[in-house]
Amino acid sequence: MAHIKFFKETNLPLEMHKVRIVQKLHLLPIEERLQKIQEAGNNTFLLRNKDVYLDMLTDSGTNAMSDRQLAGTMLADDSYAGSETFYRLEKAVQEFFGKEYFLPAHQGRACENILAKTLVKSGDVVPMNYHFTTTKTHINLCGGRVEEIFKDEATNLNSTCPFKGDIDLVKLENLINEVGADHVPFVRIEMGTNLIGGQPVSLQNVKDTKAICKKYNIPLMIDASLITDNLYFNKVREEQCKDMTIAEIARAISNEADIIYFSARKLGSAKGGGIVVDDKALYDAMKVLIPVYEGFLTYGGMSTREMEAVAVGLEEAVDMDMISHGPEFIAELGRLLTEYNVPIVTPTGGLGLHLNAREIVGHVKEEEYQSAALCAAIYIVSGARGMERGTLSEERNPDGSEHIAACELVRLALPRRVFTLSQIRFIADRIAWLYENRHLIGGLRFTEEPSVMRFFIGRLEPTSDWQEKLVKKFKEDFGESL
Ligand code: F0G
Repeated sequence: MAHIKFFKETNLPLEMHKVRIVQKLHLLPIEERLQKIQEAGNNTFLLRNKDVYLDMLTDSGTNAMSDRQLAGTMLADDSYAGSETFYRLEKAVQEFFGKEYFLPAHQGRACENILAKTLVKSGDVVPMNYHFTTTKTHINLCGGRVEEIFKDEATNLNSTCPFKGDIDLVKLENLINEVGADHVPFVRIEMGTNLIGGQPVSLQNVKDTKAICKKYNIPLMIDASLITDNLYFNKVREEQCKDMTIAEIARAISNEADIIYFSARKLGSAKGGGIVVDDKALYDAMKVLIPVYEGFLTYGGMSTREMEAVAVGLEEAVDMDMISHGPEFIAELGRLLTEYNVPIVTPTGGLGLHLNAREIVGHVKEEEYQSAALCAAIYIVSGARGMERGTLSEERNPDGSEHIAACELVRLALPRRVFTLSQIRFIADRIAWLYENRHLIGGLRFTEEPSVMRFFIGRLEPTSDWQEKLVKKFKEDFGESL
């Protein structure tokens, strides 16, 4: 985004790209939207994309590609082994992170599988700023346990803290002393901390965490899936990064890490993933698992076309015009919603805008899934689908009772360079209306509840006829408008 002063307009994020390929969208009439969400068991994962107007479910694999990326796909060298495409991608990865050894994998969680299988043994404890769902699952499957050592401010939804993703260094050192360094296979920092609202980690915190890791001889692992948003915040919020280029900040972060992995569905704006290390022995230990779980060492389960797109995507990931689009559009959506008094997570971060569902629908019982109910209501009134990030995304307690989430959020993801500002204003406007009519939103209950990761494919129904009442009020206020 360019920092350009306006004459009459209030300052707006200004795109430094233009749209050359478009996809037609459909905004169904509200009665049909009601029918579609009910057919989808009130779970936005189960909607068909043709029935969605703005797909704000995730940024995973949905960022817009550049002309250079698309052109790159035509160079794909399709061979099972020794493809030139691999060497081009390897070079781009080495250039971005400044590390020598690269292992390809089909997506981020596949890297987590390889890393956990190689490094985590039964009884181990993995400290991290915050877990991600798949990361935690892989560590648990290897008999390890995740310990979150975030700063207290991390879960304060109404904050001005610029780096809520930072590790609490005192908690880290206490934890290492408590469990013993031998039981800590690595410390993990997730850049752009996903589940607390895309909140960044400061370069200083990465350095300080590394100093502690070094003292105890524990490797530092960085999940760089959301590093581009994080780099933007380092640049604009952190004094020591002010005069650095984005490439220099990326190198400064990666220099502190012993192990890096990423989902190229996010970083690289295509589809795939990879692990990057300096240590040849560790590389060799992981290398043997790639052909077992992913594919041969020169494609790792990715298509060569996607690999070419990732290579170009990594080059473009050090361009401030490119990486500022997400955070600045999110900030603009946050500014509008705040103007309309809608409670959101502050400060706004990367990945998406996060609504504070506990405040918006506090009248809905916690066991009736506040965030999921709000998420279904948003689809009904706008045709946009977000993602539930609250109690429904948790697992039940061993006694079968609900584990009420620390934060009840609805995430409206903003895949990079996909939406226009008028679409952002539309969703803000519909949510403003919904907020004024929030008393109409009721709860949900399961009709089909899977035993693991229930949020993906579970089905629910409303606990009353609140959705029909919501539609009725919408029609009173908007008439025949979609
Ligand atoms: N790490 C982080 C921080 C992520 O956000 C994700 C995925 C992964 C790892 C796993 O990568 O999907 O390529 O296997 N996040 C997606 C999301 C699913 O919607 O936030 P993956």
